[in-house]
Amino acid sequence: MGFSKQFLWGGATAANQYEGGVSEGGAGLSTADVMTNGSHTVRRQVTWIKPNGETGSTPLCFGSDERHLPEGAVPALLDDPKYYYPSHKASDFYHHYREDIRLCAEEGFNCLRFSIKWSRLFPNGDDETVNEEGVRFYNAVFDECEKYNIEPVVTLLHYETPLALAAKYNGFDSRHTMEAYVHYVKTCFERFGTKVKYWLTFNEINCIDAAPYVTAGLIHADPQNIANAAFHQFLASSLVVKEAHEHYPDLKIGMMLAYGPVYAYTADPADQLLAQQAMNRTLFYSDVQMLGRYPNYKLAEYEREGIVLPAKEGDLETIAAYPCDFLSFSCYGSHVMTVHDENEAKGEGNGGAQAHTVRNPYLATNAWGWATDPQCLRITLNTLYDRYHCDLFCVENGIGWNDVFEDGTVHDDYRIDYMRANIRSMRDAVDYDGIPLMGYLYWGCVDMVSNGEGEMAKRYGQIYVDADNYGNGSFARTRKDSWFWYQKCIASNGENL
Ligand code: BG6
Repeated sequence: MGFSKQFLWGGATAANQYEGGVSEGGAGLSTADVMTNGSHTVRRQVTWIKPNGETGSTPLCFGSDERHLPEGAVPALLDDPKYYYPSHKASDFYHHYREDIRLCAEEGFNCLRFSIKWSRLFPNGDDETVNEEGVRFYNAVFDECEKYNIEPVVTLLHYETPLALAAKYNGFDSRHTMEAYVHYVKTCFERFGTKVKYWLTFNEINCIDAAPYVTAGLIHADPQNIANAAFHQFLASSLVVKEAHEHYPDLKIGMMLAYGPVYAYTADPADQLLAQQAMNRTLFYSDVQMLGRYPNYKLAEYEREGIVLPAKEGDLETIAAYPCDFLSFSCYGSHVMTVHDENEAKGEGNGGAQAHTVRNPYLATNAWGWATDPQCLRITLNTLYDRYHCDLFCVENGIGWNDVFEDGTVHDDYRIDYMRANIRSMRDAVDYDGIPLMGYLYWGCVDMVSNGEGEMAKRYGQIYVDADNYGNGSFARTRKDSWFWYQKCIASNGENL
């Protein structure tokens, strides 16, 4: 059977980690632009295991929400040489977009995912008129894609909110930000709607629980603020779907979920329940966006905690009437949880330390503790399809590695192993389980700043960018071994692994 002829193959990026050009073309600052690199945050050692069994350890710094400086101090410190703000230059896509898109086209991509920086179009987020220089930049990017028959997929909000909206309104805590977002999106449809068919409303919307500043621009975050912000994002998404269905019937609007299956560490029913509850914390977000209603387990939790939704008349009906057209997701690996906290690998699950998360003894990990799970995508696709019966799109999957540049390139066999295993697992889901899958986008196809650490050192790309953690370097692009491997894979429509 194999992948369909229309299968979308390509890569994914995000403006805050890739675009740079922060003060160019009349752009305003976003919440990402006041995030430092991770070097000032707390670090701990984490061990890693290569697929060939080699082991070692490296310092790990904690998640992206800890990268921003104390409230109030931020703008004043922007010129302080003590701090480095990686989004300002990032991978300088702003000046390299022609070259990058050409390299991706040569690799065989028929699809590329970008995000639009909202504050490049509306510097304060809620300005009445759009910044035409910003429109020109994105039009040039989409035209370049068209030249190579590359289908753009656009994320409307990827981990950055206009800073002015965060500072004045506490981001999506406020209905004002929600309304400004809908105005921004309507403008995107008007200005780019003939060039872009696939739109994603909020990147990894469920990460708001762990990273409310990054995901929704919350400077003050308690459970009530987070519930407000999630509600406003759900409503915004539905209003955007409504706009598209009523005025731009060719557009497809997807939600975007961060998904990693959670396995129970033991057969203890308490571990099973723990894993199920962890999954529900993620699936709550897709339940609302794909099924149009708040699930009972969440309503019961809100009631227990005294949380009240900021719903106005008609809002819940709008959410019910306009679910998303498809479900896109990121998936890097799986997680393991247990109530038996005596386990020595406590806190070393994928993506860092979380309560009750442990390392999976059966899987290899990278230097940041992220495990490669060869069954992950098949399990994920089955779970999501069984629950929602909708089109699915894997828009992020990849592996960060401390690549070594030698012999004029990077010999990244570990990345090839990772991709081979993941694409095979995805193909099994299509072949054996009949899952309707729209496409596969490899995360960070061109090296870019990592979200969690704000570093270049954790590279995902198949294209190397000559830049270090502090923006030093020529920014020249070089194809890695994985670039050639993926090129062959795409040319065979995923048969040649
Ligand atoms: C996803 C995000 O969570 O994971 C990306 O959508 C991010 O923005 C990616 O870069 C990988 O995470 P990290 O922290 O290694 O960059």
